[in-house]
Formats: sequence, C-alpha cells, structure tokens
Amino acid sequence: MTRTPIKNGTVVSPTGRHEVDVLIEGEKILALLERGKSESLNITADKVVDATGKYVVPGGIDVHTHMELPFGGTAAVDTFETGTIAAAWGGVTTIVDMALQRYGENVHEGLAEWHRKAGGNCAVDYAFHQIIGGVDEQSLKDMTYLVDHEGVTSFKLFMAYPGVFYSDDGQILRAMQTASENGSTIMMHAENGIAIDVLVQQHIARGETDPKYHSYSRPSLFEGEATNRAIVLSKVAGNVPLYIVHMSASEALNALAEARHEGLNVFGETCPQYLYMTLEDHLARPGFEGAKFVCSPPIRSKHDTHDHHGDLWKGLRMNELAVVSTDHCPFCYKDQKELGLGNFSKIPNGMGGVEHRMELIYQGVVLGELTLERWVETCCTTPARMFGMYPQKGVIAPGSDADILVWDPNKKTKIGINDKHHMNMDHSSWEGTVIDGKVDTVLSRGMIVIENDKYLGRKGHGKFIKRGLCQYLN
Ligand code: URP
Ligand code: ZN
Ligand code: ZN
Repeated sequence: MTRTPIKNGTVVSPTGRHEVDVLIEGEKILALLERGKSESLNITADKVVDATGKYVVPGGIDVHTHMELPFGGTAAVDTFETGTIAAAWGGVTTIVDMALQRYGENVHEGLAEWHRKAGGNCAVDYAFHQIIGGVDEQSLKDMTYLVDHEGVTSFKLFMAYPGVFYSDDGQILRAMQTASENGSTIMMHAENGIAIDVLVQQHIARGETDPKYHSYSRPSLFEGEATNRAIVLSKVAGNVPLYIVHMSASEALNALAEARHEGLNVFGETCPQYLYMTLEDHLARPGFEGAKFVCSPPIRSKHDTHDHHGDLWKGLRMNELAVVSTDHCPFCYKDQKELGLGNFSKIPNGMGGVEHRMELIYQGVVLGELTLERWVETCCTTPARMFGMYPQKGVIAPGSDADILVWDPNKKTKIGINDKHHMNMDHSSWEGTVIDGKVDTVLSRGMIVIENDKYLGRKGHGKFIKRGLCQYLN
C-alpha cells in the first residue's frame, strides 16, 4: 500500500488548528503525527505532500447537486464525470446528488437511473438523496426500502413547482410520517409554489417578462411561510428530521431559528449565491444577462426590509444554518437559459457552482464573516454528520477516508470562463471574482486528484457511498 505523509501543514478541524503531519496509507488516514515524528520513525513514503504555510482540511462535501437533472424543458449540463472533475478542482471529494422520481414514476427505477448515470463515471465519491415528486402508497413504501437497503436516507420534497415536483401538504405530512417511522430525513424546497404561480401569471400578463421578475414573483415572505409550514408539519409528524435546502431569506431563517430554539430536529443550508448575489447586481443586469442568475428560491434584493446576506452569514456563525451546499444545477446561457427569452418563467432554474463553494466560503473567512474552523464545519464536517457519512468522511482522523484538501492562503484564485472554470456551462456565475486563497492539492481516498494546477484523477475512481441516518438528532 502506498504511504503518503502530508507534512508541515496546519490541520484545521471544527474545534481548532493543529501543527501535525497526516500519514496516509492506501485509501485511509493512518495517523496524525507530531512534527518530525515521521522522520524519527523512519516511515517510508511513496510520495510526500509538503503543506508548509498551508491549511490541511477534510475534503469538501457538497450535499446538494443536480448532475444531468432533466428540468425546465432541458437538462443540467454537467455529467457525473464533468461535474465531479469540477468538484475535485474545487476541493470537493464527495457529492450527494439528487436522484429523481417524478409523479407517476417508480422510485426504484429513478434511483437505478441515477446509478446508471453515475456508476463508473465519477472522479470523486458520491451518494444520493432521492427526490420524491409523486408521494403515493407505493413511493412511501419505497422510501423505507431505500433507507433499509440502498443507503439512501434522505428524501427531497417540493412545496414549489406545481405540476412538476410539487407535493401538497397532505402528501408532505404522509411522507414525513413515513420518515418518522424509518428514521430518514426530509429535505424541503420551501417556497409557496401555488401562490408564486399566481404572481408569475400576473407579471407576464403585465408584460413584465425580464429575468428580474423571477425574483419579484417569488417574495421572501413566501419562503418564510413555506418554511414555517414545513416545520409545523414535521412537528406534527413526530419531530421528524427536517432539513430546509437552499435558504435565501431572513423570514425563512427566523422560522428555522425559532424551531431550533424549541429543540426541534430542524436544520438548514444556504448556498454561496444567497450570501453574495443581489437582484440589482445580478438578476437585473441589462438585456437577458440576468437569466444566468435565475434559480429558486431567487436571488434577493439589497433594498429589501431585511438584510438577507447579513442574516444568512450570522445564521451560519450561530449554527442556525448548519451547512453550505451549492445546489449545483448548471445550464448554458446559449439555447438553455435562452429558452426564457421574452418570458422569465421559461428560464431553466439553476446555477452551477460545485467548483467554487470552498473558495467562496473561504472568502467569508477572509472578510471576517466566519472563522476558519466554521468554514471546515459548514462545508466538510457537518455535511458528513448530517447525512450519515461521519467519521468515514468529513474529518481528518485515523481510520477515516483520506479525503483531504490542502489549501494555500497565500495565493489567489481568479474565477471566470477563461480563468478557473471546469464546469460544463458556457459561462461562469462568478465571473471576475477573486478569492484570497487557492486549492493547492486534493486527495480522494488517498489518490492525488489535483496537484500543481493539474487534474490527476480518473473517471471511475469515485465510489458510491451508502449512507446512514442523520447523526444530529435530539
Ligand atoms: O433553481 C434551482 N434551485 N434549481 C435546482 C432545483 C432545485 O429546486 O433545487
Ligand atoms: Zn429546490
Ligand atoms: Zn436543488
């Protein structure tokens, strides 16, 4: 078995920083060694990673991606191969993608289809949540089968997108009751889709068709209302673990914080776009440019009554929000986003960002929004614990998978289509953004996949990870 020591770096965990070396044997972390110990023990090394002046952190875990998702009259453009290579470039060593079951479809077939797409194609490890777009007797039974036999222990439901993925309150309650029996987690897209559709039709009827109306038709109050409703339903279902995905709004965060204060098993994630982007600076760009930033929930206004950015960063500091994911759902501008020319409601919803989450949230550390430790916690360790992968993933400790990101705080990263960009989209959502830090070296289960600005991984190295239950329950 190959032995790879990572020497002279600062190992960062959610609880602190340690000046130790990391010894990797094969696919696992063998030991953390005091400085100099590997020399005095005469450990033979096949390869040494020198991390002098760098941070050594667990590989990033992005628990919300949509590779190849059919959506909005088209499909997300990253395959599992291109998307996981981009993930590796971004220091991400595990993704949890969303397998799809739509109304009238079979859950097992939906999951099998996702295994077909991902199997043998991934550069880093992967796992699945299951979208349940049609809650009925059969899909409820199938949920329990997936938990017991398939290592799929979380299910995404939608209060938005009527006629596409939408579940009504009765269906949601039934799915939550099933989850409370089998121990799984319900993930919720919390926006009031029925009310949104009314506003969408009214904007279109008035000739308000530009991308910015996507945000006006999905007010933050609707996200707050739906979040609160989901929390109430989860409480009635027996305090079932509820994880609100891609949170964008202060109203929703307030509902979440109140529920957490009450001791409910309710958790939340946000994404970089909701921490940095605004309606005015992105969605409302001249012409049709704003279509690049159409996602749901939408990018919020900086002139709102709430400071959504400020509140979300605070929520991350205070553990009201547990996780940062990307909701990576990439569409090209040409021919895909362009489907909504003249009608914002036809723009495929989603943005690509799997490559940039570690970078963008690290910039939050530079800006004083988060500590270095909290960066590791929200992007690496908590995602593993939230979705039943810890301590195999999310921690640098003996016995854990050797998934490691060596981060250089002294270099810069310029993001852009002609700079750093490995996703399949024809544009970058983060064009021109400069990060005060850089992905240096990335190891996936002991294999160096990124080094010296080169991708050294291979398709098929990434393995499917069967997950356990949420590890945070009261
Ligand atoms: O706009 C988004 N978020 N697209 C991906 C699908 C979803 O709702 O997560
Ligand atoms: Zn969603
Ligand atoms: Zn999503």
